[in-house]
Amino acid sequence: MLNEKLDAYLKENYYPFHMPGAKRTDILRSDLPYKRDLTEIYGFDNLNDPRDIFLKMEEKIAKIYKVKDSIISTNGSTCGILSTIRSLTYENKNILIQRSCHKSVYNAIEIFNLHSDYVNVSVDDIGSIIDISYKDLENKLKSKKYAALVITSSSYEGYYLDLKKIYQLTKKYETALILDMAHGSHSLLFGKYENNFDIAITSFHKNLSALTPSSAVLINDLSLSDEIRRNMAIFQTSSPSYVVLQSIDEMLEKFDSFYKMYEILDLYLDDIYNINLDKLKLIDKKNKDRSKILISTINTNISGEMLANKLREEKIEIEMAYPSYALLISSIFDRKEGFERLKNALVKIDRAIEYRNTNMDFSYEIPKKSMEISRAILARKTLIDLNLAENKISAQFVYAYPPGIPIIAPGEIISRNIIDNIKYFQKNSIDLNIDDRIFILN
Ligand SMILES: Cc1ncc(COP(=O)(O)O)c(C=O)c1O
Repeated sequence: MLNEKLDAYLKENYYPFHMPGAKRTDILRSDLPYKRDLTEIYGFDNLNDPRDIFLKMEEKIAKIYKVKDSIISTNGSTCGILSTIRSLTYENKNILIQRSCHKSVYNAIEIFNLHSDYVNVSVDDIGSIIDISYKDLENKLKSKKYAALVITSSSYEGYYLDLKKIYQLTKKYETALILDMAHGSHSLLFGKYENNFDIAITSFHKNLSALTPSSAVLINDLSLSDEIRRNMAIFQTSSPSYVVLQSIDEMLEKFDSFYKMYEILDLYLDDIYNINLDKLKLIDKKNKDRSKILISTINTNISGEMLANKLREEKIEIEMAYPSYALLISSIFDRKEGFERLKNALVKIDRAIEYRNTNMDFSYEIPKKSMEISRAILARKTLIDLNLAENKISAQFVYAYPPGIPIIAPGEIISRNIIDNIKYFQKNSIDLNIDDRIFILN
């Protein structure tokens, strides 16, 4: 669609007396896409008011994901999340979110002055969030009328929630279900995609082929379409990247071939999950996306971060390290050579490390809330030593990035346990957005 049209246009040899300023020149780097960078010129549609080629691309996305409508984002899932949450919370400001939601959801809570409640999550023995508490969810949905529930499935680490159950509950309590599926655009390829939501937001750049930050909003409730689209045009740049859009176009053109490619990836993954390791553990579970290779370092003498460093010595760069595990992302575009390198490296590292009984000094808790995020952000604050912060009210978010899930949010009370959790991350060389001080409310 878009690429074909652009190919034909470029052959016509029009001279570009318009933006972008690089003018398809050949005096800049040839490995950057200046030659295909364009803007809303005649005949090339406008993503923020699509009528032609972008509508067709959106129809194709809707067809692939079996939803009623879709909206392309060239500003990531972040933009889709902000736009969707705003569209649903003009009147009712109560929002319920899974505690482990991404910071973009918390940012929406801040900028739209929302009253937030949180659904408890469950964590496994390596500290990875694997599920929510369905009992807690139902109790909360029962307790108040929420404009929306926001959940994440699949998660960064690849865990899927019971979407069917959650959707039934939100229907029962008349709450809109917003699914953050940023990490699950490829779930279709292995039969784990479920159309059980009112709105879902997904990133194509994370696990499929489209360039960073290609994403889309998937819509089942058509009554919300126009308002989400209007908000997308507010939060999205008025100059959406045509290079990014061309990569989405190519992804859509080739989507059918991705299923076959996944079968090959699955064979490579079988090979990895079958490696005989003594101390490291590869986690492969039914409710987990196996293309997210999670390696537990629990009961060894190394942390996730140390494993990442050892893999880097073998010229392997990973996605994320946590105190007790490392996360490696694979995709249908991976090559056999990469998996061979990984296999050899894991066997070598596993032989060199030792058993050690490890205590995970970490227990997940949702802090007590003293005031809403938007109020706490605007209040007067002081930076103090973390050790002196117990029982004070946090004036800031604290999170590790990635994954950008808050340990504490503004307006929440800093307990001893939260301080210990922060220190536990820091001791394990996990990069947080604070040093040994934290902003508290005066
Ligand atoms: C769970 C989750 N949701 C949303 C996002 C935002 O996605 P994007 O980077 O496409 O804006 C992320 C980013 O990492 C994420 O982890």
